[in-house]
Amino acid sequence: MVVGNKIPNQRGATLWFTGLSGAGKSTIAMHLEQQLADRNHLVRVLDGDHVRNGLNKGLGFSAQDRAENIRRISEVAKLFADTGLITVVSVISPYRADRAAARVIHNEGKLPFLEVYLSTPIETCEQRDPKGLYRKARAGEIKNFTGIDDPYEVPESPDITIDTTFLSLSECSLVLIDVLAQRGVITS
Ligand code: ADX
Repeated sequence: MVVGNKIPNQRGATLWFTGLSGAGKSTIAMHLEQQLADRNHLVRVLDGDHVRNGLNKGLGFSAQDRAENIRRISEVAKLFADTGLITVVSVISPYRADRAAARVIHNEGKLPFLEVYLSTPIETCEQRDPKGLYRKARAGEIKNFTGIDDPYEVPESPDITIDTTFLSLSECSLVLIDVLAQRGVITS
């Protein structure tokens, strides 16, 4: 519990982006961060690719390692949210149980937790292939790649679903900002 810490016009909360590699999680997270910063909000992005270089260095992509990756990120997100930050997590988080555990960790701290499902279809993600990883996975150069030879469990009741096939980057951020306002996370 943080004592006496008040950031004007916002309360701490976590927006949890889940979806396939290439679904647009990191791009939207960074755009949203800038849009919120422009409105004088304090935001922190926790991105899977980045966190795996530091806090979660050494973790791989087995179900067990992914669970540990998500558990640590959940705990850090909770601490940030408890400090009053709007925390935007962008990780594939392919397993329902791991995402449910992230929600429980936030519920325990009475912190808002919004699951945002980036539902961009795999065909689109594979076509974009921004890091060339789908091509490698298809060629068998990467094993256990989510969506190819490793599962992605679609969220059953996400708070928000966004398909980047139909929305521009700015529209995605606006949808999310609207939801944050509706939920009382931000006031202008
Ligand atoms: S998660 O499954 O544990 O949530 P996380 O979001 O941290 O994954 O990391 C995913 C990123 O790691 C991808 O965007 C991609 O750049 C890279 N990556 C490398 N190998 C894999 C793999 N086997 N499956 C998925 N992503 C992989």
